[in-house]
Amino acid sequence: VDETYIMVKPDGVQRGLVGEVISRFEKKGFKLTGLKLFQCPRDLAEEHYKDLKAKPFFPKLIKYITSGPVVCMAWEGVGVVASARKLIGATDPLQAEPGTIRGDLAVQTGRNVVHGSDSPENGKREIGKAFDALLRYYHLLNLSDMITNLALWFKEGEICEWTPAVAQWLRE
Ligand code: GTP
Ligand code: MG
Repeated sequence: VDETYIMVKPDGVQRGLVGEVISRFEKKGFKLTGLKLFQCPRDLAEEHYKDLKAKPFFPKLIKYITSGPVVCMAWEGVGVVASARKLIGATDPLQAEPGTIRGDLAVQTGRNVVHGSDSPENGKREIGKAFDALLRYYHLLNLSDMITNLALWFKEGEICEWTPAVAQWLRE
């Protein structure tokens, strides 16, 4: 199954929007498999957004993401990566459609409340579940750089496998 990393950014936490964001994914019918409140260290923020390193707004972005606690989530479901991006809406909240999280709850790109993985590969990289065996090995050898490369936001044991009782009412 597909999995995506969703994060309520510090503005979302400060503004009391954590429940609202979780609720939208719950109501849609995706499965929550990981959830924590977390103060993101600078090196992790830089690794997470490394593709944007050359952008002029990169320092501001790192300051924003590390400015207060974030809520880290892993969500699972067929097609969840692309669907979550639709639920979240366009990067610029003024361009995001009403009905999306950013379209309903934000006004500026630099304070756009939530992150969602942009591809299944990045979903796996950001959550890390796919690499459990390799991660255990890296932990044994204390290879912390290798560990952050493989599993950005969740450690071993933080992802929970479970079967929702409503599964049969979501899919035929
Ligand atoms: P994420 O889900 O957070 O990755 O957003 P995205 O995929 O919609 O956009 P992208 O990956 O291109 O940019 C990552 C984040 O950088 C955005 O969500 C914004 O918070 C921030 N960002 C992007 N462009 C700008 C910009 O022009 N100015 C500022 N201040 N921040 C930006
Ligand atoms: Mg992105």
